Amino acid sequence: MLNKDFLTLAGRFGTPLFVYNGDVLLERYQDLYRFIPHPRLQIHYALKANFNPAFLGLLRDAGCGIDAVSPGEVEYALFLGFDPQKIIYTANNMTDAEFEKVYKTGVVMNIGELSRLRKAGKAHPGMKVCLRFNPDVTDGDNVRTMTGGDLTKFGILLEDIDEVLSIVKEFNIKVVGLHEHTGSGIQKPESFHAAMKALMSIATPENFPDLEFMDFGGGFKVPYKPDEERIDYVTLGAGIAQRFREFEKQYGRELNIKFEPGKFISAECGTLLVTVNTLKRNRKRLIAGTDSGFPHLIRPVFYGAYHQVFNLSNPDGKEEVYDVCGNICETGDRFAEQRPLPEIREGDVLGIANAGAYCYSMGGIYNLRAMPAEVVVKGGKVISHRRRVSDSELIADITGTTEKCDMVL
Ligand code: LLP
Repeated sequence: MLNKDFLTLAGRFGTPLFVYNGDVLLERYQDLYRFIPHPRLQIHYALKANFNPAFLGLLRDAGCGIDAVSPGEVEYALFLGFDPQKIIYTANNMTDAEFEKVYKTGVVMNIGELSRLRKAGKAHPGMKVCLRFNPDVTDGDNVRTMTGGDLTKFGILLEDIDEVLSIVKEFNIKVVGLHEHTGSGIQKPESFHAAMKALMSIATPENFPDLEFMDFGGGFKVPYKPDEERIDYVTLGAGIAQRFREFEKQYGRELNIKFEPGKFISAECGTLLVTVNTLKRNRKRLIAGTDSGFPHLIRPVFYGAYHQVFNLSNPDGKEEVYDVCGNICETGDRFAEQRPLPEIREGDVLGIANAGAYCYSMGGIYNLRAMPAEVVVKGGKVISHRRRVSDSELIADITGTTEKCDMVL
């Protein structure tokens, strides 16, 4: 999309506005099938990365599955018409009620705790499950999202395999899949191979005779910084497919291979448009104050993540160094700190890049500012507009679920 397209959208729908380019979204999804040449590859989009309904509709129509992490996500994916056979529910720390709710849908449950596995077996002897293991490989773009190794709450330890097998035997559980997810934004291609190897080491026909698939999670990174190199996914994908074929031979029959990317499929298709309404100088700092803030795009504040910022209104302006801030009542409310950008004038529209994954979906209404509107563009047309709720609707939502209570303790 061109600068002028973004400015047209900002003019028509106002800012802050999330813009999702459906063509880029589908291209990334198809890329995975090109990169990983295996006939039984199944991609499940990590719905937590972006839950816009029109955006998900494009993936559904392209045949994509879903990686869901809460009963709400499972219900939502079913509501949107995703095939239950193409949904995996990777729970963590779920309640019995949540377990039963999802069990009834027939969606495969991915269980990552011995305690839950035992409860599942007791409640439904003979049930089909996928088991999530901790691959003991530590990689990712932030310690908070690394899910292998000693610091994580996720997955069953590989060394607990004997206990797993005894629970499986006791309750006649049918293990149809094995799963691991190493982390988000995996930096080293070798980590994919190491994690696959770890999971394959326990996936013998003696341990798990009923396997239908192996699921190696998400974590395919995309560049966020201008000078960041893209991983050579053609080589990585070929290696993955090759190793999986060798594994199938050892296992003795054909299996499906699954991945659950969020960032890779959707980060790059999204841009958050914001308008600069106030310019001010605080001694050495030039501050560009915008009409959005960290509750709309929290990654810089939460992970120290870098998102490129473009001055769409004045791309050829003379470069100056800015703190690009939001309108939230906190000093840390910055999208970018000390960033060289073409001269910003009040009224200029900025585009914050890679806003298609973990931006809207991690949002909130802190300071009682509603979340931005969202549009999905495809083939040069706006195919969906999810409007921003008004302040009165926001208040009605809060007050509407609040009632007087006279319970005595
Ligand atoms: N599968 C499982 C079990 C996961 O926990 C995740 C991400 C994924 C797949 C997808 O990972 P991806 O391909 O998107 O890296 N909010 C963070 C990322 C958190 C990811 C949580 N789990 C961020 O903004 O960087």
